[in-house]
Amino acid sequence: MFSFIMTVLLLLLFNDQFFVNCWSNSFFSEQLFTNTSDANSLLLISFDGFRWDYIQSRRAKTPNFDRIISEGVTVQRGLKNAFVTKTFPNHYTLVTGMWEESHGIVGNQMYDPHLNQVFTPENISANSDPAWFDVGAEPIWVTNHLQKKGKSGVCMWVGGGAPVKKVHPDIFIPYNESFDDYNKIDTVVKWFSDDNPINLGLIYFDQPDAYGHKFGPDSSNVTEMIEHLDAVVGYLLEQLNKTSLLQKMNIILTSDHGFTNTPANKVIHLDKYVNSSLYNVSAFSPVALIWPLKGHFDTVYNGLKEGEAIDGNFSVYKKEDIPEYFHYKNNVRISPIIAVADDTYSFGTKEYPYPEHELGNHGYNNSLQDMHPFFIAMGPSFKKNFSVETFNSVDIYPLLCHLLHLTPAPNNGSLDIVSQLLIEEPTKIAVITLVTYILCISLILIVAGVFSAATIYYWNRSKYSLYTSLTSSESPLHLES
Ligand SMILES: *[C@@H]1O[C@H](CO)[C@@H](O)[C@H](O)[C@H]1NC(C)=O
Ligand SMILES: *[C@@H]1O[C@H](CO)[C@@H](O)[C@H](O)[C@H]1NC(C)=O
Ligand SMILES: *[C@@H]1O[C@H](CO)[C@@H](O)[C@H](O)[C@H]1NC(C)=O
Ligand SMILES: *[C@@H]1O[C@H](CO)[C@@H](O)[C@H](O)[C@H]1NC(C)=O
Ligand SMILES: *[C@@H]1O[C@H](CO)[C@@H](O)[C@H](O)[C@H]1NC(C)=O
Ligand SMILES: *[C@@H]1O[C@H](CO)[C@@H](O)[C@H](O)[C@H]1NC(C)=O
Ligand SMILES: *[C@@H]1O[C@H](CO)[C@@H](O)[C@H](O)[C@H]1NC(C)=O
Ligand SMILES: *[C@@H]1O[C@H](CO)[C@@H](O)[C@H](O)[C@H]1NC(C)=O
Ligand SMILES: *[C@@H]1O[C@H](CO)[C@@H](O)[C@H](O)[C@H]1NC(C)=O
Ligand SMILES: *[C@@H]1O[C@H](CO)[C@@H](O)[C@H](O)[C@H]1NC(C)=O
Ligand SMILES: *[C@@H]1O[C@H](CO)[C@@H](O)[C@H](O)[C@H]1NC(C)=O
Repeated sequence: MFSFIMTVLLLLLFNDQFFVNCWSNSFFSEQLFTNTSDANSLLLISFDGFRWDYIQSRRAKTPNFDRIISEGVTVQRGLKNAFVTKTFPNHYTLVTGMWEESHGIVGNQMYDPHLNQVFTPENISANSDPAWFDVGAEPIWVTNHLQKKGKSGVCMWVGGGAPVKKVHPDIFIPYNESFDDYNKIDTVVKWFSDDNPINLGLIYFDQPDAYGHKFGPDSSNVTEMIEHLDAVVGYLLEQLNKTSLLQKMNIILTSDHGFTNTPANKVIHLDKYVNSSLYNVSAFSPVALIWPLKGHFDTVYNGLKEGEAIDGNFSVYKKEDIPEYFHYKNNVRISPIIAVADDTYSFGTKEYPYPEHELGNHGYNNSLQDMHPFFIAMGPSFKKNFSVETFNSVDIYPLLCHLLHLTPAPNNGSLDIVSQLLIEEPTKIAVITLVTYILCISLILIVAGVFSAATIYYWNRSKYSLYTSLTSSESPLHLES
């Protein structure tokens, strides 16, 4: 019996699985020991329109981006983003993990027939209106607040101005063109190093998108802009080092979409196929959201379908026939007809001419390699000098939640590929060690306890049996006496 107990205890002691079961339990590893001011702070930066290959093509000198890649992780072929590959929709996807039909920001410009309102990026009150942003998704700063993990500071990120589930970011700076890039870094580094620091910071930069549109993605202007942004990243690393945050913080640099060239001779003139006074558009190029006027659905649809067959450089769908792989259908803000231009093509009409000065654009099919944005990251949670080929933009929200020890709200992403980028986090390893120690000591005490108990028991029993054997032989005498 005694040796059986010993064997069981020793087996438990040397069976890893026993410990794995204990420390994979979130009670031990996450809840109790989380320290938000430690390795759990996270900075997410987006450079608008930063195509997947802008660093690896070596077109620009990028020592600071390169440093993050060699000390952290990269995604070789960029992220597969959400359709339509536009700025507002994809920024909301990055922070919610949802396809556009689910988070509701289906374009930079949108029409909502229930609200009977139009959304435009310039409309300041629309940007802070929950009617546009609070329709099912939960941005990361709301998750961070609701689960009471810490404070969030949001610098110009899409959606940051609107309350969602009645929650605003703890700190928010609305979009402001004249705010200097270095000033953004100073501002957010200060948020992280304050007495009551944020644990989550987000910064939006509107370049190199603006130059990509104006000069085209392959222009020397975009190359120069990449070098400028590299200098901004260098400044960030320097400031984080100065404030001793660099070693403790996870940093993710990514973007919403890539870019393609849009030469003026590739403009598709839809007037050739249907009279544009028969429909409204809520967005136009390269994905046209078309709302036929009452009684004109068939004329508009048939005209566009004819155009599709003649021209051969765009696709037209009734809403219900939009391909499933776009995840772009189940939302009232998506129009009854959509037209999707092929890569490098643009739509134009007399009423909505394609701007001639526009040498680059995005918004196309999210399967096109050129539409994909870059992703690099470094910090205590990320492997060093490691890469994967690609993953989806919708996977970023669950990654952010994981890094912040939050339970993600319902979303369309997964950690399947993303988790390959991660090492065991230091806090977790410390906790594992601690829990292992506690268990080891408990087991040793139990073993020792059982052993001593057994020894005492045997010792007592042998003493007792000696005693009883002695007394029993004598007791009758005593009893009788
Ligand atoms: C969290 O970390 C900070 C700085 O490292 C430390 O001062 C603080 O005591 C820690 N809090 C807990 C609850 O461990
Ligand atoms: C701007 O947005 C607000 C709130 O969504 C809306 O009421 C207003 O009509 C919009 N303005 C324009 C010019 O579209
Ligand atoms: C935008 O930023 C500039 C420069 O920091 C500042 O002077 C201005 O007040 C800001 N505008 C708004 C609307 O906050
Ligand atoms: C864009 O590049 C051209 C050619 O190098 C240069 O002349 C022009 O000044 C640049 N424009 C801007 C805004 O940087
Ligand atoms: C951080 O700053 C120190 C002191 O200026 C410097 O020696 C060190 O190389 C810097 N480390 C990084 C990772 O930049
Ligand atoms: C388009 O329709 C409008 C209104 O019905 C009409 O005035 C115009 O002439 C039409 N344009 C063409 C090119 O048919
Ligand atoms: C088209 O736009 C006009 C004017 O903006 C508006 O009155 C009409 O309701 C819109 N129709 C549709 C079907 O969107
Ligand atoms: C459509 O694209 C093909 C291939 O790029 C081109 O040869 C053709 O001329 C285009 N059609 C029109 C109508 O522009
Ligand atoms: C989008 O790209 C995929 C992959 O190249 C292709 O199969 C699909 O037909 C494209 N869809 C449209 C609407 O162009
Ligand atoms: C990074 O990894 C590659 C192989 O994946 C290796 O060739 C290179 O030397 C490594 N660089 C550093 C700085 O460790
Ligand atoms: C995306 O996630 C939302 C929320 O969980 C869900 O309602 C929707 O069906 C998902 N979409 C897809 C294509 O799975």
